[in-house]
Amino acid sequence: MDLEILYKTLIAIFVSSTLAILLSTLRGRKLRLPPGPLPVPIFGNWFQLGDDLNPQSLADLARRFGDVLLLRMGQRNLVYVSSADLARVVLHTQGTEFGSRTRNPVFDIFSGKGQDMVFTVYGDHWRKMRRIMTVPFFTNKVVQQNREGFEFEMERVVEDLRGNPKAATEGIVLRQRLQLMMYNNLYRIMFDRRFESEEDPLFLKLRALNNERSRLGQSLEYNYADFIPILRPFLRGYLKVCRDIKERRWKIFNDFLEERKKLASKEEAEGVTTKGELECAVDHILETVNKGEITEDNLLYMVENVNVAAIETTTWTMEWAVLELVNHPDIQQKLRHELDTVLGKGVQVTEPDTHRLPYLQAVIKETLRLRMVIPLLVPHMNLHAAKIDSYDIPAESRVIVNAWWIANNPDHWIRPEEFRPERFLEEEASVEPHGNDFRYLPFGVGRRSCPGMILALPIVGITIGRLVQNFELFPPKGMEKLDDRVNGGQFSLRVMTHSTVVAKPRVF
Ligand code: HEM
Repeated sequence: MDLEILYKTLIAIFVSSTLAILLSTLRGRKLRLPPGPLPVPIFGNWFQLGDDLNPQSLADLARRFGDVLLLRMGQRNLVYVSSADLARVVLHTQGTEFGSRTRNPVFDIFSGKGQDMVFTVYGDHWRKMRRIMTVPFFTNKVVQQNREGFEFEMERVVEDLRGNPKAATEGIVLRQRLQLMMYNNLYRIMFDRRFESEEDPLFLKLRALNNERSRLGQSLEYNYADFIPILRPFLRGYLKVCRDIKERRWKIFNDFLEERKKLASKEEAEGVTTKGELECAVDHILETVNKGEITEDNLLYMVENVNVAAIETTTWTMEWAVLELVNHPDIQQKLRHELDTVLGKGVQVTEPDTHRLPYLQAVIKETLRLRMVIPLLVPHMNLHAAKIDSYDIPAESRVIVNAWWIANNPDHWIRPEEFRPERFLEEEASVEPHGNDFRYLPFGVGRRSCPGMILALPIVGITIGRLVQNFELFPPKGMEKLDDRVNGGQFSLRVMTHSTVVAKPRVF
């Protein structure tokens, strides 16, 4: 970069921040803003707090400033909400006002400036996308049509593990096989396609590109250009990489789409049709494209959303569940006992069975509580000036609900730091993941809540149930417990190191 650009940038920063301070001082006189640490010019609270605002550090700030607090990160207003009552206000009572999303320069690229469903503002486009995606993805009918597919995929996992002597001796990184299974579960629904093995070249290519997209999106290294927009020219290189990854993923998604289109026209020419029962999600969505309701690009953004929102989140949740079961052999054994007694030894769990296995359900709920993979939900945003608890919230603030803390606050949960599924059979027996209690929101609640919960819960139930039925799960020799340190990011709470797990087959 030449010196002239640097010089101009610094002058622009100086002028704009002086103006911003002047304006906010004038406006601040009238506004009653939420409390928060004192910001400094230009950088706000950014250098005081650093980049990694994880749920725990935000909970510490909430203790100092209260359940609603305002942070100035450069030019951005970030509003954090840390109580069940205020979560109700943001997500439910004033769900329309706070139902939009903010984007940053990276998510502008991955979402085509909100042509998708996850990152679009609350309005007609979002309503249309949600309506169109609901029929092929988010109904109980979809679960029933695909449940044998989920069971089939898990049967392949069990077979692979039983057939791999390493699994029972030194152990394997189980999450890798579970990830392939999740790709297959979702690619079956989307395109009626599956990948044969972890070595399938197309799977490897797709997974590498999706992983890179996740890394680029999750990284904290581009915050400066989000917080101080005038610094965006310095992000040019990063954004170029993002665009390149996006194009390469688009090419793969498009190839899958073209394959479906060819199949449809071939069937039409031959007079056969798979309409109805066997139609996959993309066939259904293509009908809305043909009617002119959405563009083909919108369809590809739906595919992009599912690749990220569905596959990764569910895989991370299963990874945490396995880790907790390995680290709590007594809980693992209790779950196995339930499976053996309710179903009979070796009788494989099916989707309908998951509803009559209360301890399995409790294990899943407890995993989602303690190891909430989207701990701050996906940031919300108010398009217009609004209020939370008598505080003024400036328009276009990024509003973040610390759902993890709300579900782990010792003032409201008994010994929340313990992995104790029993709580969901005892003192918290009435609490469900769909948001009937604002202390427990692993999928959010209200308008922007996760529509994929309906698929995620049965898939996790079948997977964890069958793993525990068919195997005894241990840490590798010489280790007492698996490493449960977490790896944060813009949105997520993942396992830092993918664990090697020993899976000893049970004999029936
Ligand atoms: C255990 C697995 C999953 C977890 C923990 C999870 C969690 C979440 C959370 C916390 C949100 C944001 C809620 C908010 O901002 O208020 C969300 C949004 C979303 N999830 Fe999930 N999710 C999971 C699985 C899935 C699956 C399987 C799909 C699709 C098949 C999916 C599709 C979506 C979509 C499309 C949104 C955006 C909704 C919107 O903006 O209107 N998720 N999810």
